[in-house]
Amino acid sequence: MKMIVAADKNWGIGIEGGLLTPLPEDMRYFREKTKGSVVIMGRKTLESFPEGKPLKNRVNIVISTSESLTTEGIVKVASVEEAVREAEKYAGREVFVIGGGTVYRQMLKYCDTAYITKIDRVFDNADTFIDNLDMLPEWKIVEMSEVKEYNGTEFSFVIYKRV
Ligand SMILES: NC(=O)c1ccc[n+]([C@@H]2O[C@H](COP(=O)([O-])OP(=O)(O)OC[C@H]3O[C@@H](n4cnc5c(N)ncnc54)[C@H](OP(=O)(O)O)[C@@H]3O)[C@@H](O)[C@H]2O)c1
Repeated sequence: MKMIVAADKNWGIGIEGGLLTPLPEDMRYFREKTKGSVVIMGRKTLESFPEGKPLKNRVNIVISTSESLTTEGIVKVASVEEAVREAEKYAGREVFVIGGGTVYRQMLKYCDTAYITKIDRVFDNADTFIDNLDMLPEWKIVEMSEVKEYNGTEFSFVIYKRV
């Protein structure tokens, strides 16, 4: 299982239910990496998508305890363990954990690869965070893109692997 996320220098990933900053190239990278795959997310991340709709061309597994969540096109599960079991049903497909903070933290232990878009800024108002992989000895950087820039914000695509 893999995770994919855009994080700032403090490993902040979200503000008030949304992303830190729009980065079109990161959106393209996310779409490219995850297309055709199984994606696992928390209910709040689903709600952050346009009209709260699931992502096209992917199996959308959504973790929630809510009985009223009946969005069409999602596979709703009630726990992280159930999400893992559900994802295993799609043999041969890649599985990506796509957020948000609560789900990344609970599911890091299942992941062997992390695609981190590192945003070279600190967002003081970030309210959602993930674990700092640089502080975890089992995670090592295996690939790093050149530095990119959008509207004055620098970022790069970094791949970590569990060693
Ligand atoms: N930077 C990025 O790449 C990125 C990616 C994704 C998300 N985000 C950001 O992250 C933020 C959302 O993250 P978040 O941590 O607030 O919410 P979240 O993880 O997306 O969703 C939390 C919800 O998921 C359900 N859930 C989580 N763990 C569960 C468990 N073990 N059992 C049952 N249900 C469980 C619960 O839903 P119920 O309350 O319905 O039970 C919980 O309220 C937003 O700001 C979003 O934009 C950023």
